[in-house]
Amino acid sequence: MVDRDMVLVKYLNIPDLPNSLVNILTQEGMKVAEELRINRGKNTRNKVNPIPGSADSIPALDYGVVADNSIGLKLLKKFLSPYIPYNIDKTTVLVFRNINDEEFCECPPHTDNDREFSVNYLLRAGGKNVLTKFYRQYKDISKTSFYLYDDVGDPETVPIKEKAWHVFNPFLPHSIHNIEDIRIVLIIMPECTLEQMLELSNDL
Ligand SMILES: [Fe+2]
Repeated sequence: MVDRDMVLVKYLNIPDLPNSLVNILTQEGMKVAEELRINRGKNTRNKVNPIPGSADSIPALDYGVVADNSIGLKLLKKFLSPYIPYNIDKTTVLVFRNINDEEFCECPPHTDNDREFSVNYLLRAGGKNVLTKFYRQYKDISKTSFYLYDDVGDPETVPIKEKAWHVFNPFLPHSIHNIEDIRIVLIIMPECTLEQMLELSNDL
């Protein structure tokens, strides 16, 4: 049995996406980012808004997803099927947009409680020095998925490579830093166990 909290990010033996598919998916993501820009302020649902009232509650990030039936997503599932031999219907292209032109923004510590793990691929990190931080010593204070920095302890910083398949641990609180503009992430939730997925890792 794998200790779930030990695995933060683990790279997988899955080939890089061909450039043509990277371009299609990136274009679809950029279109979502443009819609976020146009609709800024109209849709309060599209805010990553941490604990209200905290110093970090300035909603500097918008987010959205590419439509489930996009051409890019269909091609992506077809591309992945020989390498991930499990159902991958749950696949998303998540788009973050920094709404702040002058400063970098961050996604504060949170957990993604809808999945045990995911297989991610950064199409576009969103800046030159984007970092993901994980927090092992956190106070399990509430059912909300966002945490205050005071409640998560010292971080473990993991720079995640662009365009490299990896297993991501969404159960430990994690934050994303130094987002300059638009970040586009493929998120795949295969119907298998973490152990099965890690059999595809590079370094076991
Ligand atoms: Fe997350």
